[in-house]
Amino acid sequence: MAIKQELLDQLEARRNEALTSGCGEDKIAARHAKGLMTARERIYNLVDKGSFQEAGMHVNHDVRGFGFEGKNLPGDGVVTGIGLIDGRPVTVLSQDFMVSGGSLGSKHAKKMAEAMAQARTLGTPVISINDSGGARIQEGVKSLAGYGQVFRNNVLSSGVVPQIALIAGPCAGGAAYSPALMDFCIQLRNNSNMFICGPEVIKAATGENAQPEQFATAAAHASVSGNIHFVAEDDKHAIEIIQKLLSFLPSNNQEKPPHRLSSELRLEPDEGMNDVVPEDGKTPLNVYKVIERLVDAGEWLEVQKDFAKNMVVGFARIDGIVVGIVANQPAVKAGCIDIDASDKAAQFILFCDSFNIPIVTLMDVPGFMPGLAQERGGIIRHGAKVLYAYATCTVPLVTVIMRKAYGGAYIAMGSKDLGGDVVFAWPSAEIAVMGAEGAAKIIYKREIADAQDPQAKFKELVEDYRDKFSNPYLAADSGFVTDVISPAETRYKVALSLRSLMTKRVITSPKKHGLSPL
Ligand code: HXC
Repeated sequence: MAIKQELLDQLEARRNEALTSGCGEDKIAARHAKGLMTARERIYNLVDKGSFQEAGMHVNHDVRGFGFEGKNLPGDGVVTGIGLIDGRPVTVLSQDFMVSGGSLGSKHAKKMAEAMAQARTLGTPVISINDSGGARIQEGVKSLAGYGQVFRNNVLSSGVVPQIALIAGPCAGGAAYSPALMDFCIQLRNNSNMFICGPEVIKAATGENAQPEQFATAAAHASVSGNIHFVAEDDKHAIEIIQKLLSFLPSNNQEKPPHRLSSELRLEPDEGMNDVVPEDGKTPLNVYKVIERLVDAGEWLEVQKDFAKNMVVGFARIDGIVVGIVANQPAVKAGCIDIDASDKAAQFILFCDSFNIPIVTLMDVPGFMPGLAQERGGIIRHGAKVLYAYATCTVPLVTVIMRKAYGGAYIAMGSKDLGGDVVFAWPSAEIAVMGAEGAAKIIYKREIADAQDPQAKFKELVEDYRDKFSNPYLAADSGFVTDVISPAETRYKVALSLRSLMTKRVITSPKKHGLSPL
């Protein structure tokens, strides 16, 4: 006795129909011609070969009327399931544009919500590939409710499992709020748009002639709005970014990140780091050169590279330990912290803390950005996010003060009093309330005015102030600095600190949740 062949044939036919999204070869070829993978090809290329287990392949739509009776929407326009990436399970959701434009109907939403709920139970990261015309118009409020379920699951998963969104086609209207609620967004450079209101709606509402390149494309979101974290040249590149990103992340908040500890620490100094510091204090230091020498070869993934370039954030390994790096970039806007830099740093720090990733801060900051636009734009509220994020951290915090460490910005960037576990300062560090010139003008105002040669007196008093305060030793004397080290010693001293902080435990007071400034 064996199962009836007819039943097997039927299963095979149903599978084939779903696997080709109910489309002919011509539609798939047209997609390929545009340089796009299909929803399933994206998954199969993302996960380890043959490891994807699909759930809900035989689900179909729930549309009443509109000529949909007998219409076939395989999987209801979304492919969900679990696969392995580098042997670790991940939950994947991939909207299928070839099935009614990937529009989100009630069953489509239910599949997404259930997959996300399961990801929380299993402790698996969620990868959500967005390629959809949005709420399925024919399902009306049922599809809007579906979005509600998706958003709610994004929020419930926040801080529990890492959530990564890929914008790989249209992502319009309220649909954009799902990626926005996730931890990292990657967008394809071409063939994708993300917006709340499209050009026609903007034109009708405000009269503005807005072009997608100004507000909806990957380039616009990466550099202007800050809504995305990575730009991918195509699907293949997007997949590589996701894989690299996951290589730094734990699967959930109960796990440690995938450290690759070497059995022997490299304890030798790196003399080249001394050359990274320009002799002239006015020449800006390029923080990328510091990062390059600090991290293990090939173990660096910059996040939001094109947004708020005065603040650099990214994942790295230092002697095998996964870290998040938060660094001022003095080569851009003198490294001042402005509104965008505050948002960028705060979000990254909170992510690292949620997922047990130690933070290494590289400080060279003259202050928060001065200016009317910054004040009116709420630099107080935005800058406070950085203070909040650092102060709430329970992960190890190692800070290196390279040069300027002035005022509130010094305190904000992982200082000892905000919770820094180890704070190193280079001999070139200037830890003070403000720069010597500004300080001398204020505190010696009368002496300068009364002097026979005010200019010479000013110079003398600036030097005097600099001698007293613009060095790391006063701060070290009072215990605000753990140790003064040469740049050459930085890599191995940071690595040693990270090793010794791995057992850090913090017991916090019970509370429902804190209230970070928004
Ligand atoms: C139902 C949709 C659809 C939708 C596309 N389709 N969007 N069906 N509901 N929202 C279907 C089309 O009817 C077509 O079906 C197929 O998908 C492909 O669409 P085309 O228009 O032929 O493709 P293309 O020219 O590439 O244009 C893609 C598009 C366009 C730019 C996405 O379809 C479009 O503008 N769609 C509407 C976008 C939108 O306004 N959505 C609502 C956003 S508001 P056939 O059967 O011919 O293949 C929203 C609210 C969320 O989502 C609220 C959350 C709280």
